[in-house]
Amino acid sequence: MEKKIVLTGIKPTGSPHLGNYLGAIKPALSLAQDERYQALYFIADYHALTAIKEPEYFRHVCYEVAATWLALGLDPDKVIFYRQSDIPEIFELTWILACLTPKGLMNRAHAYKAAIAQNLASGISDVDSGINMGLYNYPVLMAADILLFQSDVVPVGKDQIQHIEITNDIAQGFNHTYGKVFILPRYLTREEETASLPGLDGRKMSKSYDNTIPLFVSSEKLRKLVFRIKTDSSLPTEPKNPATSPLFHIYKEFASPEQVETMQNRYYNGISWADAKQELFEILNVFLEKPRQLYNQLMTDQQKMDTLLNEGARRARSLATPFMEKIRKAIGHT
Ligand code: ADP
Ligand code: TRP
Repeated sequence: MEKKIVLTGIKPTGSPHLGNYLGAIKPALSLAQDERYQALYFIADYHALTAIKEPEYFRHVCYEVAATWLALGLDPDKVIFYRQSDIPEIFELTWILACLTPKGLMNRAHAYKAAIAQNLASGISDVDSGINMGLYNYPVLMAADILLFQSDVVPVGKDQIQHIEITNDIAQGFNHTYGKVFILPRYLTREEETASLPGLDGRKMSKSYDNTIPLFVSSEKLRKLVFRIKTDSSLPTEPKNPATSPLFHIYKEFASPEQVETMQNRYYNGISWADAKQELFEILNVFLEKPRQLYNQLMTDQQKMDTLLNEGARRARSLATPFMEKIRKAIGHT
């Protein structure tokens, strides 16, 4: 039986954190182990250009994201792992799809709408102020990423569901005009339970809130960050409710079921916040020690990452080139 394609793009923006690991990286890596699927995971570097304008920083975050996935266990022999910008067919397809995409559909895309809303809220009279065409076309580029590889399943965070729906609209429009070329992808989102790991201040861990625990800081820095996690003012010996504690929430994601049970009882019996923090730090540090080493090695050997990514691009293009030929034929290109 032919394998189904599971594909996802990782936008390089800032240092990946524990929330990104649990919410995106871990589920994607376990899906890649499923023999029914061929996984294609790529660094959506040109998507990030809508926001990043500093070349050095851009280069750095792209490597940072690649090293993160490799350090956490992505097997580049199994997964086709590549940079979006290494696949020229994606950009050719973006244009073809743009010519079929109703402008009104893009007006409704949430990132664009949010940018307009922000201008309005700040009293800026030109609602499009500061909005570039890259941001506006973002969903078309994403549709090309997905459709070019005949993806069946696209694992994404909930904020990306609209983009997959737009991809379906665009694919259907194309198929209606030129005959059935594209298959329609479906999104895959995670269970609610792990949907949102709390950050240092108890809100959802997010780069936008500046409350993250980055994955690959030194163990000293990790300990400092864990000790900054907000707790309530209950006394050391007072019983504590694990269900409402962000500390416990993070702990249970990284500890074994036995450790979780023991810790739960320690909360009920009264554990001091300092001890709870120390235990969390230790569990995280054990989990991150090896990946951190690997990560640091990779970051000093960018050539190695280039070699891996180039090989990934070669494999991705061997899928993309014949399909692009089919798309060109369908539109009447000779
Ligand atoms: P951020 O909010 O830090 O900017 P992104 O929006 O870049 O993170 O998210 C990248 C991926 O990580 C998405 O799939 C998103 O759902 C997941 N993710 C981000 N923050 C969390 C979190 N706190 N808990 C669980 N998953 C998260
Ligand atoms: N837009 C996605 C994000 O911000 C990243 C992305 C780009 C993507 N192209 C994709 C995700 C294709 C899935 C499929 O997270």
